Amino acid sequence: MIPDKVPEQDVILGSGDLKKDAHIPTFEKYKELYVNSVENPEEFWGTLAKDFFWKTKHTGQFFNYNFDVTKGEIFIKFMEGASTNICYNLLDRNVYEKNLADKIAFFWEGNEPGDDLTVTYKELLQRVCQFANVLKSQGVQKGDRVSIYMPMVVELVVAMLACVRIGAVHSIVFAGFSAESLCERILDSQCSLLITADGFYRGDKLINLKLLADEALQKCIDKGVPVKKCIMLKHLSKVPEETAGCNSPPPKRSCPDLQVPWNPDVDLCWHTLISGASDECEPEWCDSEDPLFILYTSGSTGKPKGVLHTVSGYMLYAATTFKLVFDYQPDDVYWCTADIGWITGHSYITYGPLANGATSVLFEGLPTYPDVSRMWEIVDKYSVTKFYTAPTAIRLLMKFGSDPVQKYNRKSLKVLGTVGEPINPEAWQWYYNVVGEKRCPIVDTFWQTETGGHVLTPLPAATPLKPGSATFPFFGVVPAILNESGEELTGPSEGYLVFKQPWPGVMRTVYGNHQRFETTYFKKFPGYYVTGDGCRRDEDGYYWITGRIDDMLNVSGHLLSTAEVESALVEHKAVAEAAVVGRPHPVKGESLYCFVTLNDGMTFNQKLESELKKKVRDKIGAIATPDFIQNAPGLPKTRSGKIMRRLLRKIACNEKDLGDVSTLADSSVIDQLYQNRCCSAV
Ligand code: PRX
Repeated sequence: MIPDKVPEQDVILGSGDLKKDAHIPTFEKYKELYVNSVENPEEFWGTLAKDFFWKTKHTGQFFNYNFDVTKGEIFIKFMEGASTNICYNLLDRNVYEKNLADKIAFFWEGNEPGDDLTVTYKELLQRVCQFANVLKSQGVQKGDRVSIYMPMVVELVVAMLACVRIGAVHSIVFAGFSAESLCERILDSQCSLLITADGFYRGDKLINLKLLADEALQKCIDKGVPVKKCIMLKHLSKVPEETAGCNSPPPKRSCPDLQVPWNPDVDLCWHTLISGASDECEPEWCDSEDPLFILYTSGSTGKPKGVLHTVSGYMLYAATTFKLVFDYQPDDVYWCTADIGWITGHSYITYGPLANGATSVLFEGLPTYPDVSRMWEIVDKYSVTKFYTAPTAIRLLMKFGSDPVQKYNRKSLKVLGTVGEPINPEAWQWYYNVVGEKRCPIVDTFWQTETGGHVLTPLPAATPLKPGSATFPFFGVVPAILNESGEELTGPSEGYLVFKQPWPGVMRTVYGNHQRFETTYFKKFPGYYVTGDGCRRDEDGYYWITGRIDDMLNVSGHLLSTAEVESALVEHKAVAEAAVVGRPHPVKGESLYCFVTLNDGMTFNQKLESELKKKVRDKIGAIATPDFIQNAPGLPKTRSGKIMRRLLRKIACNEKDLGDVSTLADSSVIDQLYQNRCCSAV
């Protein structure tokens, strides 16, 4: 439960200005609302729902669920029977009812400084309607799945909201994923259409996205499930002859080197399609529990899980968390540096900000390109007030000291946020002292693809902060800490972080595999949603996430499953067995350290090492590239043959105290593994 009193910390509790207008100005207010949100969810969420448009009112129970596998199937139904359209709430209402037609929805900032544009709410609505009509003309209907594989451009938002407008289900695949990963996701969600772009620059690196998309589509054909159409946005290339007549954007960032493959049977040009499309499109009214989107996240078996979110609960939760956690005010300029290909971008670039009529920065580039001041240059350029990034980016920039930050004044900043992994107190302090100049509270937001929005988080004007703690639960969220036997621990304790009841934004199922949903999240401790994270509660009741306690790794804020990387490694003909563990990394948080046992007659050398790294990159994507590959003639196993990863983690870190090794079948492998350690991994 939330403590009555919280300690006086030596950090500032929001600036005076922030407190004056804050939605939740004090800890007492937070506590009062929290109790109500948990005890009377209908009243709490029902009041917030009044801010949205409902075509029809809910008919069933307001919040109906079963969170306990021993009592039957797990289900969560929120405002069932009500109908609405999220796109209508995000755009039409802001344009026609809230007088925000000319307000800027996005400042788009390209990879190259100086390449920028703005889009207002009215323009966004027109473009979404046009593209919604395009999708309809291609036969896309309510409930159909559409795969989106695009860089960080305004058209990505247009594509996702166009799907939402017609009730289609988007499945966005981060543009850093490989062709193989894209194919796997297209097939799993049975997408009938793919939307992509020709290419983009990530820093000075040119990514030919269409080539990767085509490779993925070929793999789909090889597996007997061809995708019917592929719509390509021209972001970099000049008009290819095959698509003549298309009114392409001016080739401001044109890239003559980009060779775009074109298959007239499948490929369609975005610009040609929209040039004839009407900018009016009646929204499709959807039931609260209709599917909204699928987003894949790593699963411990190696096969990614298609996390499914539904309409009303997600909308309300993304909108409310955005408003309260960033203490959104109408004159804010908000910037979340995540990619829309991840859940952070879904909830806190598209859905949450637009639901509140906010102005956001949409950034295509990298924090280090063309130099390490880029973030702060952008903050000053747009007078950003609320800034949300990942610990890995903070640690990366921290390495360059305070000078690149102090080149810009950052006076506009009011609230800073972090997400994706535990933030170490050193990085927290740097963010607070150097970036925010002790003026801006830091909201360390803990959540997951599955939770839809923040679940443990400070509120910037209300919560006294402790560096490194995600502090307390958001409204409607009831955390608990369990020991290995599933007993709830009280007071200061450490164990499994679980949630005791649903909140509107929690995922509803794993697409196409409800059993996997139940097994992954509800089976270990019946009656609870299991996060897979370890957590400590201190003497003041603050929650501290200690990291994953399953077979998942968190590299630069991205979850990867050890099984997925291992299965990529063993696909190489030289590898008989592989075991992957995380090794602490000063910037990425964790890096991949892979042990490989080779088949007889194979030799471990640099060439093989590079081939294996490439194998993983090609199979999953660049984010999964291993840092270390070690030759392991034998792996430490229990007598029943289970790999003892706990020991491998110690070996990867060169820690000599292995603890209890009594279950180890053959202890001779250990010395050999220490001897074979990768020399660069000191
Ligand atoms: O381990 C936790 C970590 O990221 C995981 C969720 O990853 P994903 O579904 O990719 O979503 C990331 C963005 C929401 C969690 O299980 N994590 C996320 N935020 C934090 C965190 N760990 C500690 N502190 C956080 N603030």
